[in-house]
Amino acid sequence: MEAIDDLIKQFLKELNYEPILEMLSNVRSGKKLRSKLLLAIAGESKESLKICAAIELIHLASLLHDDIIDESNLRRGSKSVNYEFGTKNALMLGDILYSKAFYELSQMNARFASIISDAVVKLAIGELMDVNLSKNFNTDKEKYLTMIYNKTAVLIEASAKCGAILAGYDESSFGEYGKNLGLAFQMVDDILDIKGDDKTLGKPAMADFKEGKTTLPYIYLFENLDKEEKVKLKNLFRKDLNEEENLWIKTRFKEKEILEKSVLEVKKYTKNAIDAIDKYSNQKLKDIVKAITDRDF
Ligand code: FPP
Ligand code: MG
Repeated sequence: MEAIDDLIKQFLKELNYEPILEMLSNVRSGKKLRSKLLLAIAGESKESLKICAAIELIHLASLLHDDIIDESNLRRGSKSVNYEFGTKNALMLGDILYSKAFYELSQMNARFASIISDAVVKLAIGELMDVNLSKNFNTDKEKYLTMIYNKTAVLIEASAKCGAILAGYDESSFGEYGKNLGLAFQMVDDILDIKGDDKTLGKPAMADFKEGKTTLPYIYLFENLDKEEKVKLKNLFRKDLNEEENLWIKTRFKEKEILEKSVLEVKKYTKNAIDAIDKYSNQKLKDIVKAITDRDF
């Protein structure tokens, strides 16, 4: 992962504009799930590291833009770039990272840029879907699944496909692995928003519902409430909850065993992921699936 960070720093230095480095100096390095995945499939080489660096830059660009859209002040436990340097700077910085990443990809086999640019289009469509779904209380699980596939799983799917191409493996099996892993990953994130606390999450807990995000646990909760409680839950949507309201939601989650039910759904997708690449018996890829689902439920 250090080699990827070094490559990213080198790419950014090549841009010759000091404020870029300054604005990014407080942005903490992420988990680099997409890179870990690609390297677990393809192994380390000059080419694989370069694609990883490009994918991490694109991922970071998408987070910079997402924090503007979500009006978030916090990212990875530190002040977000939009909060610290303003929306205009965060917006342009995202564009710079994104364009530099594609410049680097354009110097390689065209297949990589093709897969990744297709993924970024879907990423942006997923973000639009998220914004639109957040306007009302969404009770449609299919809409939620389509949105998280686009918003989160596509770039993970693309990373797995690029890894497969580099290794000479079957692109579609690895794509299937990445897609299911990505879906599980987002569902775990959505569960942790309810289970976690501000400190472990690096962002405020129980923020999704307030932001209008009716994630899988909320969809299941709604399905399991009686008529009166359904109305009450809908009335709390997008609200700054007081302690009593917060407790009401948390108690209903417990009573109806909603998080357990959501974890079962996650397991369906992790099983699909592992089944898709079973014949390759790659333990590292199985470990990645486990690391994602075992994120402290
Ligand atoms: C986080 O979602 C957001 C994403 C994973 C994707 C955001 C995508 C874009 C803004 C479009 C693509 C743009 C570029 C420049 C590549 P979240 O808000 O649910 O998660 P969070 O809690 O981490 O903020
Ligand atoms: Mg966000």
